[in-house]
Amino acid sequence: MEKLVVKGGKKLCGEVNISGAKNAAVAIIPAAILVDGVCTIENVPDIKDVHVIVQILEEMGATARFLDRYTLELDCRTLHTQTAPGEMVRKMRASYYLLGALLGRYHAANVTMPGGCYFGPRPIDQHIKGFEAMGATVRQDGDMIVARAETLRGSSIYLDAVSVGATMNIMLAAVLAEGTTVIENVAKEPHIVDLANFLNAMGANVKGAGTDVIRIRGVKKLAGGSYSIIPDQIEAGTFMVAAAATGGDVLVKNIIPKHMESVSAKLSEIGAMVTEYDDSIRVVGSEKIASVNIKTLPYPGFPTDMQPQFVALLSVASGNSLVTEGVWDNRFQYIGELLRLGARIRVDGKTAFITGVDHLEGAPVCATDLRGGAGMVIAGLMAHGQTEITDLDHIDRGYEKMEEKFQALGADIVRVSY
Ligand code: EPU
Repeated sequence: MEKLVVKGGKKLCGEVNISGAKNAAVAIIPAAILVDGVCTIENVPDIKDVHVIVQILEEMGATARFLDRYTLELDCRTLHTQTAPGEMVRKMRASYYLLGALLGRYHAANVTMPGGCYFGPRPIDQHIKGFEAMGATVRQDGDMIVARAETLRGSSIYLDAVSVGATMNIMLAAVLAEGTTVIENVAKEPHIVDLANFLNAMGANVKGAGTDVIRIRGVKKLAGGSYSIIPDQIEAGTFMVAAAATGGDVLVKNIIPKHMESVSAKLSEIGAMVTEYDDSIRVVGSEKIASVNIKTLPYPGFPTDMQPQFVALLSVASGNSLVTEGVWDNRFQYIGELLRLGARIRVDGKTAFITGVDHLEGAPVCATDLRGGAGMVIAGLMAHGQTEITDLDHIDRGYEKMEEKFQALGADIVRVSY
């Protein structure tokens, strides 16, 4: 097994290049099932979740090869089954996109209930509601979801929860359906727009992604082509927070600053200097970190996936901060680990009450989930002494060579086997 050993107290300085977006990649890769041709997907992040979804497709018969570290050539015309391998599917959340893509292309999908980070129950009722509105029948057989359709017809669907997954999954099912599908109250995250752009680049007719209503006019077929994935908004935010947390000076490169607005605004409020350029943002930390209140919301609100990183930062702010989780029922498991480092945080329901302490003190902790793990790394970078972080599988699912990027900024962080 491996752990990260962090010796805190180094100011991060320099430049960091941000990889392609995980939550776009894990939807765009299975979307290739809908394509009658070869897809060349660029700026694919080199992370575990990507390798798992590619392996799932390969086991189902797809032909996949990396032309270089970040360019994936994928041909799903050779798929020989509509059943996804259960053991692999359980390794990640985004395997639910196989449902929409297989249903859209073959009118049949058998996919095990997906895995991923645990934040309380993670229902997929809105995905299923969308498939059923289009004429599919969906039933659960053990832990397998079985979806079938004679034909898929465009329909009007109003989402009861603003769901990233349901929005993208229904888009996948609709691009080859007969007629027009209108999805209302959809999620507006940058990766929704990216999936729509990918599908349109392959010949789909998807309009309105990034607004509250998406209209998809079904087309007969999608042809192959090339597409480049957007930069990862959450990886960028994680490095921006780390720069502010260590009083450093970091240029976060290869990003879309517009996607970072809520994060940039909060970093300015805590006293960091944030300067936007065309495709990069510089963050210069201040001596003192001011306390702030945060509520996570669907995009363009403050992202839930940046909540643990900010809580780690605010644990040493001067004064009291309130952080309210507005997306997930239970996304504070990692706080028990922060307490081991000396943070003073009380959780009541969906709100964390943070009393800033003078400093954190290094200790052994674990990554309870992907972003909770990122929060632990930031805490370790700020703490006095040595912090050891175990359960790196979570971090590796979504961050590409995280410790190498931090080392290049001057952090004292190493990965060791034990
Ligand atoms: N919801 C329902 N019914 C559904 C679907 C969702 O009630 O059918 C609820 C959920 O319980 C939750 C809310 O709607 O309260 C939002 O869930 P959403 O469907 O948007 O989440 P997701 O698609 O499962 C994606 C990201 C998460 C990110 C959320 C919110 C992927 C693979 N995962 O999850 O990313 O937190 O959107 O932005 O795209 C991460 O990267 O660390 C991560 C957890």
